[in-house]
Amino acid sequence: MKQNGVFITFEGMDGSGKTTQMHRLAARLRAMGRTVLETAEPGGTPIGQKIRRILLDSANQELSPSAELLLYFASRAQNVDEWIRPALARGEIVLADRFTDSSRVYQGRGRGLGEEAVMALDRIACRGLQPRLTILVEIDAETSLARARARNAAEPHCETRMDDQSLEFHHAVYQAYRDLARSEPERFRVVDGRAPIEAIEERVWEAVSPHV
Ligand code: TYD
Repeated sequence: MKQNGVFITFEGMDGSGKTTQMHRLAARLRAMGRTVLETAEPGGTPIGQKIRRILLDSANQELSPSAELLLYFASRAQNVDEWIRPALARGEIVLADRFTDSSRVYQGRGRGLGEEAVMALDRIACRGLQPRLTILVEIDAETSLARARARNAAEPHCETRMDDQSLEFHHAVYQAYRDLARSEPERFRVVDGRAPIEAIEERVWEAVSPHV
């Protein structure tokens, strides 16, 4: 399918600040007159929101790793077909808060399901759609867990099934993100998530501006 728009994804550990950065970038692009679709995974579309509730509900402790993987991709397939591809075909800029790279690191490496299984589902759900640029907002596993738990304590909610995983799991995710960024340096731009918000915003803009 012809793709005229620009597809950019944000990745990073929980609490990295990627969502804030994505909103700031969207505001900047809209101020320049660009049409921007912001989406998030799991979630995005109304059907994706329903899938998200299953995935993140801390009551669903028995959810098996392969069911978890398939549900993340079910949400993604709906997002790609209902929102992302049509927006790109209209020439819009699409910003996604997480995409297939999250499944590669959380399920492929964190859960140990492997890169092959994840990329097989990517071929079905995304059919060759890849981000032109991926911003990785990097923070270490300890900072991530501390920020996620502080947030969950401040605003109690039930979407904590992934934050409840062990420090070891989050270490594996951190290392997997680093390895991915190193293996695809032309697509990834790594920014330091501990820097001040405005400084990160400038680094993001430097990475994005040549593409828009
Ligand atoms: P998100 O809503 O981005 O939460 P946060 O703002 O806390 O980062 O993501 C929810 C959780 O889902 C997060 O712990 C990462 C996890 N996740 C996966 O494990 N695999 C995936 O493919 C995606 C998209 C997210």
